[in-house]
Amino acid sequence: MCGIVGYVGPKQAFPILMKGLYRLEYRGYDSAGIALIDGDLKLYKTKGKVSDLENFVKDKDTTGTIGIAHTRWATHGEPNNTNAHPHYSQSKNLAIIHNGIIENYASIKEELMKRGYHFESDTDTEVLIHLIEDIRNNEKVSLDEAVRIALNQVVGAYAIVVISKEDPDMLVAARKGSPLVIGIGDDDFYLASDATPIAEYTHDVVYLDEEEVVCVRKNRKIKIKTITNKDKTAYVQKLEMNLGQLEKGGYDHFMLKEIYEQPHSILDSMRGRVNAKKGIVKLGGISDYEQKMANADRIIIVACGTSWHAGLVGEYLFEDLARVPVEVEYASEFRYRNPIITEDDIVIAISQSGETADTLAAIELAKSKGATIIGICNVVGSSIARATHAGTYTHAGPEIGVASTKAFTAQVTILTLMALRIAHMKGTIEKSRFHRILNELEAIPEKVKETLKVDNQLKELARVFTYTRNFLYLGRGYNFPVALEGALKLKEISYIHAEGYPAAEMKHGPIALIDKEMPVVVIATNKGTYDKVMSNIQEVKARKGKIIAIVTKGDKDVKKLADYVIEVPETEELLVPLLATIPLQLLSYHIAVMRDCNVDQPRNLAKSVTVE
Ligand code: AGP
Ligand code: GLU
Repeated sequence: MCGIVGYVGPKQAFPILMKGLYRLEYRGYDSAGIALIDGDLKLYKTKGKVSDLENFVKDKDTTGTIGIAHTRWATHGEPNNTNAHPHYSQSKNLAIIHNGIIENYASIKEELMKRGYHFESDTDTEVLIHLIEDIRNNEKVSLDEAVRIALNQVVGAYAIVVISKEDPDMLVAARKGSPLVIGIGDDDFYLASDATPIAEYTHDVVYLDEEEVVCVRKNRKIKIKTITNKDKTAYVQKLEMNLGQLEKGGYDHFMLKEIYEQPHSILDSMRGRVNAKKGIVKLGGISDYEQKMANADRIIIVACGTSWHAGLVGEYLFEDLARVPVEVEYASEFRYRNPIITEDDIVIAISQSGETADTLAAIELAKSKGATIIGICNVVGSSIARATHAGTYTHAGPEIGVASTKAFTAQVTILTLMALRIAHMKGTIEKSRFHRILNELEAIPEKVKETLKVDNQLKELARVFTYTRNFLYLGRGYNFPVALEGALKLKEISYIHAEGYPAAEMKHGPIALIDKEMPVVVIATNKGTYDKVMSNIQEVKARKGKIIAIVTKGDKDVKKLADYVIEVPETEELLVPLLATIPLQLLSYHIAVMRDCNVDQPRNLAKSVTVE
C-alpha cells in the first residue's frame, strides 16, 4: 500500500527520491523516510506527510548518488518516527524499505532475538533486514544472495529495496504480491512501486515478476533471478504515461481533475473499440476468449470497493443484454469461502490499480480450479493484468485521487462493451437495440461534459449539507450500484456516514432513520422503475426527509416532490450510471472541501490496497 522509490546513478539521488515520494504519496501517507549513501549510510524519517519529511531534512546532509525512500501505510506498529521506513540493520550497514506484510515475522523475530538481535520498531519489516544481515554475515554471501536466501524463509507479501554501505553503487530489490517497477535510464536505474515517479526520467521499464530478485548497479546490466535461484532475462517495455497526467493541471485537487477528465477517459476507454456506423464492438484483448464467454453458463465478477460497484452494474448489463447469470462477489469473501468454481466458469476481475491483494488472491483461487479469468484493469502491466488469461485495459489514465472516479466510469464503459459484444455474438440482443445503444455510447462523452455543468449547483448544495451527519442514497435497477457508489464517495472523503440502498429496501429498515434532518439522495432517472422510485420518494417525503433527486432533463413529476433537483441528460437506461454518478462525485467532493478534509488523501485510506 505504500510508496517505494530508489535511485542509483550519476545524479544526486535526494531530489529524485523526494519528487518520487510526492508522486507516490497517494499510495500511503502516514510517515515517510529516506536513506542515502555518501560514504556514510544516512537515514532520516518522520511521522506525517512527505512535506514533513522535507522539512525535517532541510538542514541535514542529503548528498549521495544512491538512495531509497518510502511513504508508509502502517500495518504493524503505529505510524510514528521509529516505525517509519527505511529500517537499519543491526550494524547500520544496511537499510530496507518494504511494502506489504511479513506474515511469519514473529517467529523469525523470536529466533533472531535469541541470537542477540535488538529491535527498535514494532514493524514486520525490521525483522527482514536483520535476517538479511544475519545470513550475509554467517554465510559470507553477496547482498543480493543474502536477500534471495532470506526471502525463502519469508511468508507474506513484499516489495523491498535494500542498500548497503559496503556496496554503495548497488540496489537490491524483490517482489511478491506487491508491485515493483524498474526504470532503465542511460546510465542509471530508478525503482518504484509504480511508474509514476519514473515517467519523467525514462520510458524504458521492467516490471519485476513474482518472487524475483533484481540487482542494479551503476553502469552495469540489470540482473534478475528468481528466489529459487534461476536467472531471468529482463523484459523491457515502453511506458505510455505523460507528465501532464501526473500533475493537477490547474485544479485544486486530483479528484476534481479526474472528475473533469471523464468525457475524455470514457472516450479513451472506447477508442478503437466501438464503431456505431458499422455496428462494431470489438475488444482485442479478449478476442481469444470471447467464444468461451459467449458459451459460459455463468459469469462471476470479483472486485473490491468502487470496482465492486462497477461489477454490480456489470451484473445488470450481462443479464439484460447477454442473458447470462452473473454473480458479483467481494473478492475478500470469495477467496475465503469454498466457492464452487468449474472449468466452464468465466471470472471477470475488476481493479483500477491491478494490485488489490484480495482481488489477486480471488483470481489465483479461481485459476487453480480451472476457470478462465478476464481482467478489467486500469494500470498497464499491473499484477492483476498479468495474472489474468486475457483482459481489457480501461485506459482511463493514471488515477491519483484516492477516491476512485474516472476509473469507475471507465470500468462501467468496458463492461458495457463486453456485454454488448457477447450479446451480439449470442444473438440475445435485437439489432435495432444494439445499434441504438452503440449510437448512444458514442454520444456519452458529450453528455458527460454536459452533466459536468451541474458543478456549481452541487457546490451550493454542499454548502447546505456541509455539517450533516448522515446521508441515505437510494436507487433501483441500474441506479442501485450508483447509489452505493455515491454513498462510498461521501464516506471516503468527507467522513460523513452514508448508506446506499435499493430504494425499495428502504421500507424494510432504513426508513426508521428518516426525519427532517435526513438528506436522501434519490437517483430517479426516467426509465425502468421510475414510477416505483416516485413512490419511494413519497415515502421519504411523508416522513419529512429532504430529497435531493438526480433526474432526467425535463422531468416534471419528481421536481414537484424533491427539495433539490439535479438534471442529467437523457440516455439509454443502461448508460445512466455513466451520467448519474457524476453529480454524486461532485457532491462528495464539494462537501469534503467545505469540511476542510484532505480530498486526495483521506484519512486511513490508501490508493492500492496490497494487504489483506
Ligand atoms: C474507491 O474510491 C476506493 N478507494 C476503493 O474502494 C477501491 O475502489 C478498492 O480498494 C479497489 O481498488 P482497485 O480498483 O484498485 O482494485
Ligand atoms: N508492514 C510494513 C509496516 O507496517 C509495511 C507497510 C507498508 O506497506 O507501508 O511498516
